[in-house]
Amino acid sequence: MTLSLPDQYAVMGNPIAHSQSPRIHRLFAAQTGQSLDYHAQLVEPGGFMAAARAFQAAGGKGLNVTVPFKADAWVFADILSARAERAGAVNTLSFGPAGVRGDNTDGPGLVRDLKINHGYSLAGKRVLLLGAGGAARGVLQPLLLEKPAQLVIANRTANRALELTLRFSDLGPVTGCGLAELAGRPFHLIINATAAGLSDAVPPLPEGVLAANGWCYDLMYGHEPTAFVRWGREHGATQSLDGLGMLVEQAAESFYLWRGVWPETRPVIETLRSGATLV
Ligand code: ATR
Repeated sequence: MTLSLPDQYAVMGNPIAHSQSPRIHRLFAAQTGQSLDYHAQLVEPGGFMAAARAFQAAGGKGLNVTVPFKADAWVFADILSARAERAGAVNTLSFGPAGVRGDNTDGPGLVRDLKINHGYSLAGKRVLLLGAGGAARGVLQPLLLEKPAQLVIANRTANRALELTLRFSDLGPVTGCGLAELAGRPFHLIINATAAGLSDAVPPLPEGVLAANGWCYDLMYGHEPTAFVRWGREHGATQSLDGLGMLVEQAAESFYLWRGVWPETRPVIETLRSGATLV
């Protein structure tokens, strides 16, 4: 008699101790009756390729990849989805007989959170994306596929925004600029993809960038409202959301890629939001 172990999954990053991914995937597995193990693995700088190879050799089925290894995972993959190719970053690896498939579920996770969980349609909207680093690059294609009227990338270092614009301009009406150039241009939705929140700060934004009834969305989340969520509230945003919903939605996309089953995200978002300790 052969004993079969549950399929193995993990998230690799540095730091990783506070990752919610193991909890989210265990909740998804329990909810859908899937048999799998999912753990968090700390990887030392420069060690991603070896760690991923070892995980694969041990029969692992899939990996989530987070900061700072998403570009390494992009190189590691044999086959890339179109959105991952474009993003230059991979957050989901699937190990199968055809090779290692790399995908990026961050952008779809953001769009699903906005559209499905919050009923927000991006079509025809003027959207401002703050930041031009990896986080911004990861969400650009899925945002443009929703057909906003305009997508402006604004960054502290204007040149990086302009460079990013060139990489995505064939997909829709995207332009780039520095933060000061935003003066007098109101947006329906402002998405914060900068790392300013790590020091509890907000990029310096001129007055008037948030339209009346505008929404704010921070890709970051925390137990307390993030600096950008607070900024949105102070500036009269109709909704000022953090990235917890996106986190759960990107995990659901990964889970679907691996298991072919869509988990229900709402109860998982509610569990995480309530701070309850479950699995
Ligand atoms: P990530 O992968 O999280 O996007 P990154 O590639 O280092 O990380 O990019 C960080 C982004 O946050 C950049 O757009 C950065 O602006 P610069 O390109 O000018 O460095 C932005 N950023 C970080 N701290 C910021 C701050 N205090 N105010 C405004 N923008 C900030």
